Amino acid sequence: MSKKSFSAIVLAAGKGTRMKSAFAKVSHNVFFKPMIYHVLDALLPLQANQIVVVTGHQAETVERLCSDYNVRFARQTEQLGTGHAVLAAQNSFDDINSDVIMILCGDTPLIQTETLKSMLDNHISEGHILSVMTAVAENPTNYGRILLDDTGCLQAIVEEKDATSEQKKINEINAGIYCIDKKFLFSALKNLKTDNKQGELYFTDIVAIANSQGFPVNRFCCLNIEETLGVNSRMELASAHQILQKRFIYKLMESGVTCILPETLSISGDTVIGRDTVISPNVFIGGKCVIGDNCLISSFSCLLNSRIGDNVIVHEHSYLNGAEVESNSTLSPGTHINNSISCTEGD
Ligand code: UD1
Ligand code: CA
Repeated sequence: MSKKSFSAIVLAAGKGTRMKSAFAKVSHNVFFKPMIYHVLDALLPLQANQIVVVTGHQAETVERLCSDYNVRFARQTEQLGTGHAVLAAQNSFDDINSDVIMILCGDTPLIQTETLKSMLDNHISEGHILSVMTAVAENPTNYGRILLDDTGCLQAIVEEKDATSEQKKINEINAGIYCIDKKFLFSALKNLKTDNKQGELYFTDIVAIANSQGFPVNRFCCLNIEETLGVNSRMELASAHQILQKRFIYKLMESGVTCILPETLSISGDTVIGRDTVISPNVFIGGKCVIGDNCLISSFSCLLNSRIGDNVIVHEHSYLNGAEVESNSTLSPGTHINNSISCTEGD
């Protein structure tokens, strides 16, 4: 593929009203880490020149949360819509040489690196001005709908709140991920208007603007609808967790771990488990645990930040926190080891 440089914008300033929470939406944990980390972690391997995170609602908290990432922050002081949020990032690119900008939302934690990479490659190699990630949903409610013209070209995106009942029947949705030519982006943003039901500057109107200027818009269809799930409510938060947990448990099983009743397990993504180890139903493994080969972790046990050697049997109802267990040991039922390091303020 051609060697165009790219940068990215992650929108994370919104209030997340539908979460009914005192905390910023992107700070909520999904599969053991803040929602926005999943988006940044998916993006990092693509090696963007610069990643700009747009913050607003509880900006300090979100910025502190993301401080270990090599990103810049741009403040959107008032949350006047996704288009307005992208505008807030404009000055952050003054000194950045990137032809293409990828725009993502901080509330789509299931998106995967491979998908982002395919989209970017497709956008660059085919020389598009604007690409929009879409997906076909069984239940498209609440997503922006994709409007095509008679020839099947992407004409515009209409938001749920502005859609007619006919448009609401469309099941191709906007995933909220875009690749766009930088020059076009910042000139087209000036044309956004607030003439919609929410009185906001919708970024999605950029599609109609591109068409009006004679630029065809590329649809990049994500075949795995799961990846495009946007988390706006506690129900979606639970679904996102469940999908990510399942993905990780499948990976463990593929690598030779037996998981009996996988749907009853909670295992953090930082866990390492050796071959032929058996995890019984209803086990919780959190933090960073390393478990060796050929172990048995019995039901109702909870392991946190522990290291377990090979051939270890952990009997039922054990609680191991910060434990070091030597190979070939057997822990009797209800073993309690708590070597947790207490957190000091600021940790
Ligand atoms: C948005 C899209 C919709 C798409 C969906 C995909 C628009 C107008 N709509 O809708 O077409 O199907 O995402 O998930 O873009 N944000 C800000 N500042 C704001 C408003 C939002 O930074 O002023 C951020 C939010 O923090 C969030 C993201 O932008 O991370 C998306 O905002 P949200 O309100 O969730 O948009 P949706 O209604 O889901
Ligand atoms: Ca959303």
